[in-house]
Amino acid sequence: MSVVDWPALRSAAREAMGRAYAPYSNFQVGAAALTSDGRIVTGCNIENASYGVGLCAECSLVSALYGEGAPSRPRLVAVAVVDRNGAALMPCGRCRQLLYEHGGPDMLLETVSGIRPMSEVLPDAFGPDDLRSR
Ligand code: THU
Repeated sequence: MSVVDWPALRSAAREAMGRAYAPYSNFQVGAAALTSDGRIVTGCNIENASYGVGLCAECSLVSALYGEGAPSRPRLVAVAVVDRNGAALMPCGRCRQLLYEHGGPDMLLETVSGIRPMSEVLPDAFGPDDLRSR
């Protein structure tokens, strides 16, 4: 699982972006991830007339990670998030937390400043270990 096919991830994220339901912001987002069990899962943003209820692309990505049944508790290994032009988009703060839960500090993210680990994108993160250690 050492080599990540970033162009394939970007292209899957772009394809997912095409499925976005974003009639309110008109800001379509797509996300794709390589998982620890070798799948590529994707997500897009899904907005709602009750604006605050809308789902970010990363949220539907995490749902897809578990959506088809995941007895092996798969992890996110590498993630790409793109805007409507296919350019890298930084996950919002809530989504960084979501990704951290399922990818941990070593998960790789394609950012606007290159491929970086989650430990840099969400430094000193609060996570599952904090609940265990106190
Ligand atoms: N959005 C995402 O899908 N992911 C992010 O990390 C940032 C924002 C979506 C939410 C909303 O549907 C639209 O982009 C505009 O904020």
